[in-house]
Amino acid sequence: MTMTEIIEKKKEGQSLSREEIDYFIDGYCKNGIPDYQVSALLMAICFQGMDEEETFHLTESMLASGKTLDLSSIPGVKCDKHSTGGVGDKTSLILCPLVASLGVKVAKMSGRGLGFTGGTLDKLESIPGVRVSLSPSEFFEAVRKVGMAIVGQSTELVPADKKLYALRDVTGTVNSIPLIAASIMSKKLASGSDCILLDVKYGKGAFMADKDQAEKLAKEMVRIGMRFKKDTRAEITSMEQPLGLAIGNILEVVEAIQTLQGKGPSDLVDLVLHSGTTMLLQAGIYSDAKKARSALEKNLDNGKAFEVFRSFIKAQGGDVSFLDNPEKFPTAIYSYPVKSLKGGYIKSIDALDLGLISMELGAGREKKDDMIDPTAGIVLAKKVGDYVNKGDLLLTLYTERANKRDLLSRALGDYEFSDEAVTPGPVVEETIRLVDGEFEIEKE
Ligand code: URA
Repeated sequence: MTMTEIIEKKKEGQSLSREEIDYFIDGYCKNGIPDYQVSALLMAICFQGMDEEETFHLTESMLASGKTLDLSSIPGVKCDKHSTGGVGDKTSLILCPLVASLGVKVAKMSGRGLGFTGGTLDKLESIPGVRVSLSPSEFFEAVRKVGMAIVGQSTELVPADKKLYALRDVTGTVNSIPLIAASIMSKKLASGSDCILLDVKYGKGAFMADKDQAEKLAKEMVRIGMRFKKDTRAEITSMEQPLGLAIGNILEVVEAIQTLQGKGPSDLVDLVLHSGTTMLLQAGIYSDAKKARSALEKNLDNGKAFEVFRSFIKAQGGDVSFLDNPEKFPTAIYSYPVKSLKGGYIKSIDALDLGLISMELGAGREKKDDMIDPTAGIVLAKKVGDYVNKGDLLLTLYTERANKRDLLSRALGDYEFSDEAVTPGPVVEETIRLVDGEFEIEKE
């Protein structure tokens, strides 16, 4: 077997065997296959795709490239959740403590933000003192004691993904359903949880621009997870407008605190309650969705979810006085209100462009090593469906960078208006499960 034969085979649209996939993953990880050959194969996969068996074998092979976590010493059902990322997506900060407050154990590995999407680790690190690299024993201890922990991806898990992702990033080969599915699922499986909930976002502010593609990716990942005997479900969620009101690290942490205290924006609360219900059903803590949802609602209102959030931040070295008094967080030097030039119902808000603006304000990175400004970002005053009068505040931009006034008119252009009333769609549009080999799709 040679790498050239494998590339030719995929180029012709044939399926690769398990042995061929192992050969290329193993060879690449051991530096025995050069980047140019792997790039050629990745590009062939982008054009020709991979069937179910190949995608499964790719996941298996990537998983076998490193260690896997054994969480069995932590009592209880361990549940992981993963979002494919979007603008203003601070769900993990709320959902993880909320489900942990009801007995689900969450041992989560998260990533940093790149481009227009934010990353949970950056958001957490905007709380003074928080450490996202814990030793394995600290990580296990935190999950055991607090019920949850969120840390950076361990370099010992799935080293194949680290190498492959870096190469995909610079060779235009990120956007392939089998490659994304194997990349995400190998990491989720290596993290050792019993159940996995996937939030697959689609829309302007997400990886997958259209819903069909998001559904395909979701099904592929659910199939892989179930073959590994993990209860894996996926939600298809809309990212046509930013999630919640805040975009940017400290701004999102403050919104997460408000939501954990029962004062969150309705779309964010809806998503958290929906995902939380699914996770409680997956963990077997509830068998009735309505009861699960009302338990979650109760713990948002009575402060129990916030208490877990506080303990989690404390366990990871964070200064909880910032959670108790969010006004202690630093604020950006400049704040620019953007007001509407006309009246009407808001028809759409361009999530992608607001994500890019937020990055320009300093909240995100263009390149992996860029510094971020935790105070920078955007707070929306109005969302899709709201009525505004001329002169009403639409959003405020926050930045430490001078000369960003030009972004005001650009942000204004991201709002579209209608004379007719507009009803925003549900945030979670579908929940996908695999039952007895058949997909069950529950539509909202
Ligand atoms: N996120 C991942 O972890 N991998 C991909 O390939 C795409 C998004």
